[in-house]
Amino acid sequence: MNTEELNNKLKNLSAQDIVNYFLHEYDGETVFSSSFGVEDQVLTHMILTEDKNAKIFTLDTGRLHPQTYDVMDRTNIKYGVKIDVYFPDTSKVQELYKTQGVNGFYESVENRTTCCAVRKIEPLQRALRGYDVWITGLRASQSVTRKDMQIVEYDELNRVIKVNPLLYWSLEDVWDFVKQNMVPYNELHDMGFPSIGCAPCTRAVEAGEDIRSGRWWWENPEHKECGLHLKATPNYSI
Ligand code: ADX
Ligand code: SF4
Repeated sequence: MNTEELNNKLKNLSAQDIVNYFLHEYDGETVFSSSFGVEDQVLTHMILTEDKNAKIFTLDTGRLHPQTYDVMDRTNIKYGVKIDVYFPDTSKVQELYKTQGVNGFYESVENRTTCCAVRKIEPLQRALRGYDVWITGLRASQSVTRKDMQIVEYDELNRVIKVNPLLYWSLEDVWDFVKQNMVPYNELHDMGFPSIGCAPCTRAVEAGEDIRSGRWWWENPEHKECGLHLKATPNYSI
């Protein structure tokens, strides 16, 4: 089925039904990446309630907040799993440190994207290897760079079908689900962090501010992607 046919088939389904469709139709070929942000916690709940053995992984960049490890631990305990962790390549991190120091990402977009490439992109590519379907927690209203995405897209770089079941959910929908289902969440969300990435590149925002304005806040909005989610092509067959 190509991505256009999949989008037509799934367009009126709930997020849970979209998740279930891929867990069953692409059993063993589907993987979900979680940053332990609130959207991903919703998906973890949906996925593990349907299939305890579903494959979920996180990318531990080595620069995460302590609160992120805490919610990772609480999630593993609640659902009785051990979510897979992918770390960056040691020698590449050592080289990164030699070339740009500890916090070189503040100095230029180039340094920042290099750091993201070493700490996120390469481990992501390793984690996706061997899978056909990649589920993410992206929502269209998170940023200008995400508003034109589709539920199902083809990610040429990683050669996978990318599925965004929460694409049309509002932030309110996300929190309603979390509260109703007692889903564990990162306590930074209660401290003004609507979007959470690496500790040195994420800060709290004021009420009413753009939800991603606390990510790489020193850069322009159009640069604010780390490269995990570059533009995908709309149609492709699997
Ligand atoms: S980012 O590209 O700016 O970092 P964001 O934090 O909005 O992404 O998260 C969007 C989606 O990317 C998440 O729902 C998740 O699927 C994936 N993602 C982001 N960061 C990670 C991470 N550290 N580990 C695993 N998946 C991640
Ligand atoms: Fe490096 Fe910041 Fe990117 Fe994390 S978000 S990988 S610390 S530049």
